[in-house]
Amino acid sequence: MRKSLIAGNWKMNKTVSEAVDFTNNLKSALRDVQDVEMVICPTFVALSEVSKMLEGSSIKLGAQNMYMQKNGAYTGEISPLMLKEIGCRYVIIGHSERRQYFREDNKSVNAKIKLALKYQLRPILCVGETLSEYQNNQTIDVVKTEITEGLAGIDNEQMSNVAIAYEPIWAIGTGKTATPNDANKVHKIIRKIISDMLDAKTGEKTRIQYGGSVKPDNINALMEESDIDGALVGGASLSVESFIRIVNYDKKD
Ligand code: PGA
Repeated sequence: MRKSLIAGNWKMNKTVSEAVDFTNNLKSALRDVQDVEMVICPTFVALSEVSKMLEGSSIKLGAQNMYMQKNGAYTGEISPLMLKEIGCRYVIIGHSERRQYFREDNKSVNAKIKLALKYQLRPILCVGETLSEYQNNQTIDVVKTEITEGLAGIDNEQMSNVAIAYEPIWAIGTGKTATPNDANKVHKIIRKIISDMLDAKTGEKTRIQYGGSVKPDNINALMEESDIDGALVGGASLSVESFIRIVNYDKKD
């Protein structure tokens, strides 16, 4: 049985004081949630304050990115060692916005995943196709390349600390979502790719989140699918009310 993993990716939103207020509200509203693993991913500058506020809470802290070196002359970058010390448990790697605007490729994604694991951070590897790739029926090829290259050299034990987020790029921030059934088909294929790379047991255990315009009104249908194990939520994680409703997807109002 895979425990659901719901993560909020705040992207470049909320100042430190806004992040603190928000976390305060979220923490009290979500204090009774047990069956879902919850993660919030603020900006780098807010991590330290938010981390202090999450002490004793079941909400975990994640970063949105990291660099592929432990330290050194890499102006403007943040190392996994720093994230670990500050209290991060998760790190999003290879988000499509990083790939699109900051030229991240599967090779750097792979190096980041390996270094994150070395410092006991759990990577959430993002994969997904663009609109034109989707229209040209290239989804499977794209996802397969991103996974095989992104996870090259990762063994079974390491894989137990990696989650995948399938995020069709055409669905991110657009209000469009893959239908639950279509998303689930891709999730099944992702599981098969991981099973073929490692083994069936590892494929079965890997948590695969869906991302791309996840909202309170579509989360239930997504989570009902057999191979959707959670969500990576952008826009709807910025409001306490909608994030609470997403995390409580299985509770009736
Ligand atoms: P969205 O973003 O929920 O705003 O579509 C998802 C993501 O980019 O992780």
